[in-house]
Amino acid sequence: MKQSTSFHVAIVMDGNGRWATRRGLPRAAGHRAGAEAVRRVVRIAPGCGITALTLYAFSSDNWTRPAAEVSTLMRLFARHLRTETAELAAQGVKLTVIGRRDRLPHSLVTAIAAAEHGTAGGTRLDLRIAVDYSGRAAIRAGDLLPDVDLLIRTGGEQRLSDFLLWECAYAELWFTERMWPDFGAAHLAAAIHEFHSRDRRFGGLPTREAV
Ligand code: IPE
Ligand code: IPE
Ligand code: MG
Repeated sequence: MKQSTSFHVAIVMDGNGRWATRRGLPRAAGHRAGAEAVRRVVRIAPGCGITALTLYAFSSDNWTRPAAEVSTLMRLFARHLRTETAELAAQGVKLTVIGRRDRLPHSLVTAIAAAEHGTAGGTRLDLRIAVDYSGRAAIRAGDLLPDVDLLIRTGGEQRLSDFLLWECAYAELWFTERMWPDFGAAHLAAAIHEFHSRDRRFGGLPTREAV
């Protein structure tokens, strides 16, 4: 298979709640710290060769959480979209939000539209945030993204939790015990370093034998 020039990294940003609980803080504090980790990672991603970054922020199954936590998350998403748009545009980031919008608060839908409009000219990084996203629903609707090259999941669990099921068909999987709010440049670099050391065969033969 031809080497592609794009590098699509997807991240299941898990562990915000446990990060906070371990510090005796409310889960909301973990989500706020998680939002800071998003800022960090987005800023360094293009320098790591990443051309597309898809972040799992809220799954369609996360609606089953307590209403207070859900509304905290929705407010946090809207606030960050509003405060980050100018900087994202300045960094050449094109932001889009994937997933259902019909169940989101109206204020968030408005903030999403404004952020997408304000960053539409970005050409350095395709940043997608998955909100009310379900991989199964996306497949049923034919709403598919480019193939994922590297899938990272923080927080210790080793599962996809309905994220990019189709797109991860040949993704390299990288798991870390580290909680998402503690994830930073060094961990992203470690994941990418390991990615480059793996032999992606796509069903063919190992590179060294494929004469
Ligand atoms: C990930 O962290 C963020 C969302 C799913 C919204 P969690 O909130 O799942 O944190 P843990 O897994 O309970 O620690
Ligand atoms: C996956 O994390 C969804 C996001 C990170 C947004 P969850 O915390 O919802 O996943 P499970 O429940 O551990 O599978
Ligand atoms: Mg979790």
